Formats: sequence, structure tokens, C-alpha cells
Amino acid sequence: MINQETVNKIFDTVDIVEVISDFVTLKKSGTNYKGLSPFTNEKTPSFMVSPSKGIFKDFSSGKGGNAVGFLMEHEKLSYPEALKYLARKYNIDIEETEVTPEDIQQRNERESMLAVTQYARKYFTRQLQTAEGKAVAYSYLRQRGIRDDIIEKFQLGYSPGERRALTEDAIKNGYKKEFLVKTGLTIEKEDYSFDRFAGRIIFPIHGISGNVIGFGGRTLKAGKNVAKYLNSPESDIYHKSRVLYGLFQAKKSLVNNNRCFLVEGYTDVLALHQAGIENVVASSGTALTSEQIRLIKRFTENITVLFDGDEAGLKASFRGIDMILEEGLNVKVVLMPEGEDPDSFSRDRSSSEFTEYINSSEQDFITFKTRVLISDTKNDPIKRANMITDIVRSVAIIPDGIKRTVYLKECSLLLDVEEHVLYSEVNKIRARKREQNWKKEKSRPDQVYVPVQPTVPSFVKNVYSEIEEREIIYFLLKFGNESLRLRNEENTEISVSQYIIREIQNDDLEFTNLIYKQVFENVKAMIESGKPINEKVFTFHDSKEIQDLAVDIVTSKYELSKVWKRKDSYIELPGENLAVEVPKALLLYKLKVIDMALEGLRRQIGEYEKEKDDRKVMELMAHLRDVETAKNEISKVIGERIILR
Ligand code: CTP
Ligand code: MN
Repeated sequence: MINQETVNKIFDTVDIVEVISDFVTLKKSGTNYKGLSPFTNEKTPSFMVSPSKGIFKDFSSGKGGNAVGFLMEHEKLSYPEALKYLARKYNIDIEETEVTPEDIQQRNERESMLAVTQYARKYFTRQLQTAEGKAVAYSYLRQRGIRDDIIEKFQLGYSPGERRALTEDAIKNGYKKEFLVKTGLTIEKEDYSFDRFAGRIIFPIHGISGNVIGFGGRTLKAGKNVAKYLNSPESDIYHKSRVLYGLFQAKKSLVNNNRCFLVEGYTDVLALHQAGIENVVASSGTALTSEQIRLIKRFTENITVLFDGDEAGLKASFRGIDMILEEGLNVKVVLMPEGEDPDSFSRDRSSSEFTEYINSSEQDFITFKTRVLISDTKNDPIKRANMITDIVRSVAIIPDGIKRTVYLKECSLLLDVEEHVLYSEVNKIRARKREQNWKKEKSRPDQVYVPVQPTVPSFVKNVYSEIEEREIIYFLLKFGNESLRLRNEENTEISVSQYIIREIQNDDLEFTNLIYKQVFENVKAMIESGKPINEKVFTFHDSKEIQDLAVDIVTSKYELSKVWKRKDSYIELPGENLAVEVPKALLLYKLKVIDMALEGLRRQIGEYEKEKDDRKVMELMAHLRDVETAKNEISKVIGERIILR
């Protein structure tokens, strides 16, 4: 871990204009600098950098932050990676906090394993050139139409048929058997050992930074009684659920195209590259994991899944689509013709025919799901209702409220069901889910617990509520690392900051005060990178406003909360009972947001009534009812808590 002093030094030294100038052409404009947004495709500059505040703000994408935030966003670096980048740029020595002997041992072990896989990768590549390799393996690849440049790009190789060839060569070259076994290259039995991949074509699997961390090996035999592929076993360097084949080769292209094609197999990845499509990764035949999806999310939020065209696989594909939606990404689908995978399909077609097929048959997941399911429903109304529920359920798990609304519009058209019916169905599903979580969390009676809160309807957001926003930031900075206990089976501890972040994000709310928003985003980044909140990051922040705010908060005595005083319902010292204080601050914030939304809705309804636009009035009235219901729920919880105490 990079120690705090180093972090402070980095924050003190960096010149945000210098940092960003490496990526964006900036022109001076008053005390600030201006340029074209690197995140959108704009023609007039709306990207601003403030050297005095040490922050940037991109008005076209809404992104903003300090130099580290810029690097994380623009270069897709993690928080520590961004700090290291800056340290290198400004020649700051990085001091890492103390490492234990176990850390060193583990690091050495990982490095030894990586050394072995790197050696093995080169060994396998060389074997393609031997007489045996040429006759057996290279000829096979050629016969499948795989070009030399692709073989080279993916470092394909061959493991000789002789059962100990690699193991013996490795040991002869000074590699320890221990690590050959740990990486799974060698299989060890009681009295003998042998190469796992003997006689197979090798597909090296690269980690995100290009290290070879594992292998897939395809048999050359046609028989059914031999596994088509063997893969490296789980190890300290290879975690199947966190790896995507082809990601290393796809990285740049994912960002440039802002889209990721997801295929099933090794050969599909090769086929797409061969057709000039480089933004592709494979889940390698296993069920997609949320870790894999989050890996993709670091580069793009748009995924297009290429499904093989067999009936059985289609319904199984729904689970994967739902997982992608749940992570907040956009999903599209390309269905390959019956019996084809992308590799086989591309084989007897030109690159342009292949890309043309992909482009023209891409459909969004709702259309896809509807088309697959509708054939089962015929004229059976019950089956039809089930289908609608099924599709609505997928929409309900999308975290972003605006996207949910857009998809519901489409559903409404496609399924010929009124929008508000679908809308209330989604709300029901989301409410039920919350209730389940809530029940889980309060199932331990003797713990201080924090409830899951009533939800703010999705179209309510972005209203100005200075006092309430500040109150939340107050708890975030002053007590963010304190823990709250949830009442569930595992007696989970959740930090105040995790709880706040979760609640704000569950409701898609955003702070309107940009300073609070930035503090919130920074805290979020720290928490996501597994770090506790370090208040010094804020008190030594290069933004003066954040510094002032943070200094103000951390140096304050337990001041009486302004919100409590204003509500003059119940007064106690903040911090004494965070399990009550924090949820309450959030509820009061939500109540405020909702009140403002109600006001806005009533005004709009009045205007539409004047224009006699009945359709619009009806629509907004439905919204109004939802917001009122949410308000009642929230008021009830606040009321109960106030009376109870
Ligand atoms: N797979 C695996 N183990 C198996 C079969 C498949 O790990 N026994 C994984 C591989 O990553 C493979 C993917 O699942 O690439 C898809 O399997 P499949 O469609 O059977 O193979 P293809 O990739 O199409 O390979 P080929 O074209 O050579 O048959
Ligand atoms: Mn295939």
C-alpha cells in the first residue's frame, strides 16, 4: 500500500493542467483552461480545468474531479495506479507501507509462478516450428484458416505429444517443479509426473497487464472420449472467474469503439480479430461472472453478446444478460444462424460480409427476449402474461432509473401493454426485492441495525438541497470509517460510508452541490479500492473548497445538527448513535428531494392542464401518485423513529 505521506506529497506536487495537457489540448481562458472534452465527441470546448482548484469539470459528460480522478477516468487506471503514474511523472519516490514476511513470501511465489508461465509460453510457441509441431499443430491451425499474424498476436503454441517434454525442459532450465505443479503445467501423481497439455494446441491466457497467467489446450483428436479443451487449474495467479480471454489484446479497441463483443470460445475471439474486429473477449465457455462484467466495465459500458444459434443455449443466455444489466451495463445481442458459432460462420465469408452480419443483426435485449419467448406463447394469455413478467423482471434489475424508463417505453410498444402498468410492475418488483433485503437484515433481533430505506421514485433527482446534502457529507467525512452492524445471518459489519454510498446509489440520487458531489465520488473511489477513508486526502486536498469543507467538518466538536434543530423533533449529539443518525440524515435528504419533486410535478400538471394536454396530465398524475406514496413511506419511517426514541 502506498503510504499516506506519499499520497499527500503527490497531491501537493501535481499540477493538474500539466497532467491533463498530456491528453487534451488546453487553452487559457481567464483563470481557467478550456479544451475539447476527451470523453465525448464535442465541437465546442466545454471541458474546463481549474489550476487553482486542482480540479477539472467536463460539462458535456458531467465528469469532474482532481488529477487522479482524471487519470482513473481517462486512462482507466485504478486509484493506486493513478497515484503511481503521477509519482513517476513528478519523480516522487513511492513509499509503501510495511510489508510482512508473508506478503513477501506470497509475492515471491506469485512471481515464480509467472516466471514459469512466461517460460512455458515461449516454449510452446517454439514448438510450433519443430518438425512435429509443423506437421501436427501448425498445419491444423492453417487448415482451420487461422492466419500467421493471428497466431503471433495470440502467441498460440503447441505442447509436444511426448508426455514429459515440457516438465523436463523446464527443470533442465532451472525452473522448480513446485511451481510447474502450482501453475498446473505439470500434473504430479504419487510416483510420476507429466505435462497437462501434452499433444494439444496452446492458447495462452493473458492477465489484464499482459502477463501469461494460464493456458487453454485444445486436443487435435476428433474422438468424443477426450476433453476438447483442458484449461489451467485455479491458482494464485489464475482465477477463472476473473479472467476474460482476449481482454489484453482488446483493451485499446474497447475504449476506442466504446463497445465490447462477448463471445464464447477461444476460436471465436481469433475469428473476430481476423475479420478486423478487435474489441472482443470470451468468457471461455463458463457461465459469465459479475467479476468478468466489472472487468469489461472498466473499459466500456456497452456489451454486445454473440450467441450461438441453438435453441437450448438461448434461454440459458438470459441469465447472463440479466447479470450484465444488473451491473448497470447496456446489452445488445447478435444471434448467430442456427448451428454456427462466430468462428465457423466467418470461415467461408469475407471480413466485410461477417462484420455486415454483426452490424445488421444486432438487437437490443428486449427485442431479443421477446422474439425468443413469443414463439412459446401462441395465443395462450397466461403464457403471454408470464412472458411479460419475465421481460419486466429484467428491466427491474437495471440500476439506472432513466434507462428503466426508456426500456419500459419500448416494452410497452413491443408487447402492446400500457406503460404505466409495466411501470407499476417494475416498482412492485423493486419494492419486493428491497423488502427481502430488509427482512434479511433485521433477522437478528439483538443487534443495532440499520434498515434498508424506502425508495425514491426513479425520475426524482438532482434537486437542490444544500443543508441535507451537507449533513450527509458530514457523516461521510467525520464518521465514514465507523461501522454499523446489519441484522443478518452473517452479522455483517458495514461502514457508515458504505451504507451511505449504497443508499444514495440505490436511489440514483446525485448531489447537486459539486463540491459535495466530488467528496462523495472520492470517498466512493477509496471505498471501492478497498481503502478506509483518510481524512487527510480531503484536508490536504488540492481543491480549496474541499479542504475548507473537510477542515470544518473534522475539526468541529460534535455540533448539534442543523437539520435536527430545524425539525425540532429530537435532538441528540451526532455520533452517539450512528445507527439512528445516519439513516435519519439520509431519510431527511430523500424527503427533501421528494418534496421538491412534488412541487415541480404539481406545477407541470397545472401547466399541462391549462394547455388541455390530457395525456400528459394523466402521465404526470401517475408519477405524482408514486411520489406521494414514496413520501408517505419515508415520512412514516421518520415518524416512527422519532416517536420511538
Ligand atoms: N471449453 C472448455 N472445455 C471444454 C469445452 C469448451 O473450456 N471441454 C471452453 C473453451 O474456452 C471453448 C469454449 O468453451 O473455446 C467454447 O466451446 P466450444 O464451442 O465447444 O469450442 P470452440 O471454441 O468452438 O472450439 P472449436 O471451434 O475448436 O471446436
Ligand atoms: Mn468453434
